[in-house]
Amino acid sequence: MTPTPVHVPVALERSLELLAPALSVEGAVLVDATLGLGGHAEAALERHPGLTLVGLDRDSDAIERAGERLARFGARVHRVHTVYSGLRTALDALGIDSVTAVLFDLGVSSMQLDQAERGFAYAQDAPLDMRMDRTSGPTAAAVLAEYSEAELRRIFYQYGEEKLAARFARRIVESRQEQPLERSSQLVELIAAATPRAVQRAGHPAKRVFQALRIEVNGELAALEAALPAALDSLAVKGRIVVLAYQSLEDRIVKRELAARTSSTAPAGLPVELPEHRAEFRLLVRGAELASDAERASNPRSIPVRLRAAERVRGAA
Ligand SMILES: C[S@@+](CC[C@H](N)C(=O)[O-])C[C@H]1O[C@@H](n2cnc3c(N)ncnc32)[C@H](O)[C@@H]1O
Repeated sequence: MTPTPVHVPVALERSLELLAPALSVEGAVLVDATLGLGGHAEAALERHPGLTLVGLDRDSDAIERAGERLARFGARVHRVHTVYSGLRTALDALGIDSVTAVLFDLGVSSMQLDQAERGFAYAQDAPLDMRMDRTSGPTAAAVLAEYSEAELRRIFYQYGEEKLAARFARRIVESRQEQPLERSSQLVELIAAATPRAVQRAGHPAKRVFQALRIEVNGELAALEAALPAALDSLAVKGRIVVLAYQSLEDRIVKRELAARTSSTAPAGLPVELPEHRAEFRLLVRGAELASDAERASNPRSIPVRLRAAERVRGAA
């Protein structure tokens, strides 16, 4: 099999198909809340000549790289270095009241994974950094050095769904008394040594711990919990949102928020639904959609993706 270029955007055609009616209206504005390398953004701008893009990313490298890629679209592109929970503030600063489309393509970018020195990949030895925004916040090494055993156990269990959370947390606390854990290879070795032979599990033994540290270091779940309502509130009527999630914790947050916004708020037992109780949104796909078989075969990064989408059907009450 020929290797896949790492920069192929996931679910590109499906996302743009779902967003299309909201990208082609007069005055269309797309918020790409996770601009990354600008793959989705570039395709949307190319296909919809009247579209304005507001691209957010907390990683200044991504903002810069996407800027080069999207330079030819000139004033149609606004890039903002921010956590996506700052979406409303970013729109206010641009004088934009409402938008017609929002896209979230969650998680780390292929660029972040490829930059070994950022410490996201357990397969490459690097300092344990893992910050998407290298200008602020504690690194993974600081979390490993400073959190109590109970806190480490909790994050491995909750954010990594790691069954051996207690065991790994204990080993880390023992080991850091000898020497600090500063590099990914040290952490990978510790986890491998602490994993009982009999425990056969899918994937790399360090996969879940790395995921948990990344989520903790970047406050990923809290940012998403704040950003989704802000994004939905900013959508005009007929505005559309597509969210691509790659792990179950994020997908659960998306599912819950969309379920709440697409349900009637009428009290149980009311014989007729009043207009103000009607849901503000409708789902555009049933449940979570997976990538097509063809995409899964050609782009392994698409294998875990869960796509959810909704459309605003009426204004806020
Ligand atoms: C999967 S990549 C997006 C790739 C992009 N769709 C493309 O086609 O090139 C996710 C991007 O979201 C950014 N990101 C993740 N969490 C974020 C957050 N809470 N706020 C802002 N950006 C975030 C990451 O820095 C990364 O660049």
